[in-house]
Amino acid sequence: MTAARPWPLGVDGIAYGGDYNPEQWPREVRLEDIDLMREAGVTLVSVAIFAWATLEPREGEYDFAWLDEVMDDLAGAGIKVALATATASPPPWLTRHHPEILPLTQDGTVLGQGGRQAYAVTSPLFREYALRMTRVMAERYGDHPALALWHVDNELGCHVPHDYSEHAAVAFRGWLERRYGTIEELNAAWGTAFWSQRYDSFHEILPPRAAPTYANPTQQLDFARFSSDELLTHYRALRDVLREVTPQIPATTNLMLSSATKWMDYFSWAEDLDLIANDHYLIAAEERGQIELALAADLARGVAGGDPWILMEHSTSAVNWQPRNRAKGRGEMLRNSLSHVARGADGIMFFQWRQSKAGAEKFHSAMVPHAGRDSDVWSNTVALGRALEALAPVHGSRVLSRVAIVVDYPSWWASELDSHPTQALRYNEELLRWYTAFWDLGISVDMVPTGTDLTGYELVLAPTLYTVRDQDADRLAEAARAGAQVVITFFSGIVDENDHVRLGGYPGAFRDLLGVRTEEFYPLLEGETLHLDDGTRADLWSEKTHLEGADAVRSWADGPLHGWPAVTRNPTGEGAAWYVAARPTADGLEALLTEIVAAAGVEPAVPGLHRDVEAVRRFAEDGTTYLFVLNHSDRDQVVQVSGREMLTGTDVEGAVTVHAGSAAVLQES
Ligand code: GLA
Repeated sequence: MTAARPWPLGVDGIAYGGDYNPEQWPREVRLEDIDLMREAGVTLVSVAIFAWATLEPREGEYDFAWLDEVMDDLAGAGIKVALATATASPPPWLTRHHPEILPLTQDGTVLGQGGRQAYAVTSPLFREYALRMTRVMAERYGDHPALALWHVDNELGCHVPHDYSEHAAVAFRGWLERRYGTIEELNAAWGTAFWSQRYDSFHEILPPRAAPTYANPTQQLDFARFSSDELLTHYRALRDVLREVTPQIPATTNLMLSSATKWMDYFSWAEDLDLIANDHYLIAAEERGQIELALAADLARGVAGGDPWILMEHSTSAVNWQPRNRAKGRGEMLRNSLSHVARGADGIMFFQWRQSKAGAEKFHSAMVPHAGRDSDVWSNTVALGRALEALAPVHGSRVLSRVAIVVDYPSWWASELDSHPTQALRYNEELLRWYTAFWDLGISVDMVPTGTDLTGYELVLAPTLYTVRDQDADRLAEAARAGAQVVITFFSGIVDENDHVRLGGYPGAFRDLLGVRTEEFYPLLEGETLHLDDGTRADLWSEKTHLEGADAVRSWADGPLHGWPAVTRNPTGEGAAWYVAARPTADGLEALLTEIVAAAGVEPAVPGLHRDVEAVRRFAEDGTTYLFVLNHSDRDQVVQVSGREMLTGTDVEGAVTVHAGSAAVLQES
């Protein structure tokens, strides 16, 4: 149970801080920054992320004086640095001299200088410049006492997950040659007998640029795989330079795990990151945004393989990039932060330390707001620092869940392609709907990739696992045989990894496990709902499913499939396999999940809480448990516990009230 991954050097307890952009400020402000960081208890800051143009104002001419000073000041104050490679945004001189490094969109638009991230990740010339800058940073600061962690680039793929430039075309061909070996293999995998798409050589292949109609689906899927791989390849190249110069310093990059980030298969990146760092922003328009936040945090823990990870960015209050940027309510910033800690984060950081005076993000909140110290935001910043200090013993403990949700990025990409039974299916919505149902029952889940050994779980859910390899489908069957309740939802197991349909009836890969055979899909029209025989309703999807060994748990109560099964259960080995061939509305889903959870024998962390009270436990190696109770509701919540409340440092026994909007962390005895 000990943390396997390295941690920022010299950072103890729960790391606290944010992105620090001193290049935007004069010396007197930077000096004040140091005082304020001390006041708030900051221990780690990310520096120089967007500093390339300041550090290298003209090609080959460097100005390090200011950064030397900043690093020394931070070291003097005992504050550690996650130092960036400074490559996240090329300086204007670079794109002016070499416009060929700029990325191209699907419809042929060149994305120019003036914002940020204006580079094609596949451009060999850009790679050369980025490697050079990385080496310069590593050689200059590799021995600096403040250096604790390398922060490679920044949110790789944030603005340009897919580049369609000539560089991308060349790299895509290379990637395909490595994947398929011969053009015949590619033709077979892509099904190019269809629509006269047969290729005679790899030279003929292009990225799926704008075309008269639907591009080849396997080409689209492979381009998504390739694009995720290319971003990782870029990370690796930079990381390798850092490893060569400073083998003692761990390296990471900040991921964007959330229910909205689709294009990077972060599970496949995990091995290359010394530790997992995630950025997450609440969606202000989302009434119960804390649920999506928790999903993102569980996903970050999943990518970290259960090891502690760092929340590298979130916001103290409003952001600047949503249509309406709501300020956070009372207690919300603390609850958001503790929700990440509860789910395995051992570092809480923000974008950014000091709110900018100029530039596109000047209305994005920060730890030091425009208003200065006399503000709620600053008080919250200081209070959070104190809270995290008190939680230092939590570092290294783990969340142990008995439920797993299988998350698969290729299924996300492929299930949402064009030319499908419905265009209304959104993989991430399905994920969030089921996640929400678990949340409402108070049950914590692990988010795991396909290929994971699932036999230790009591309940395993695979929502819309559309594309699946045989060996990954087998993992689910093994879990059921070993005693788990395995739940597979509609549009799963439909195709192989080349997006070729598994013939003989749906859901091809899972027909035997589920004991069903579907002959045809019956997607519902917009706004249409049908009744299930438990009186609840379902929308989006239905299918004509024959029972071939399974029992019907729910049937359609009206519509063209009246009387046909909608949810089935097939006893298998020590467990069972459930097929949810419908999309029940929230009440129906909760009722169904309640049955499944009962069959699995899984209990909430704390029974009987209001659904907007979040309770999660972390387990330390020495047997200590930490119970996080975060009250997102507008009512006080009484919890039966005994132990030490860590935020206030008081011993508690029996009934404890967690006030509306507030939080408690119990070291349980
Ligand atoms: C991302 C970036 C930051 C900043 C924030 C604003 O996470 O990494 O530089 O732009 O968004 O929310």
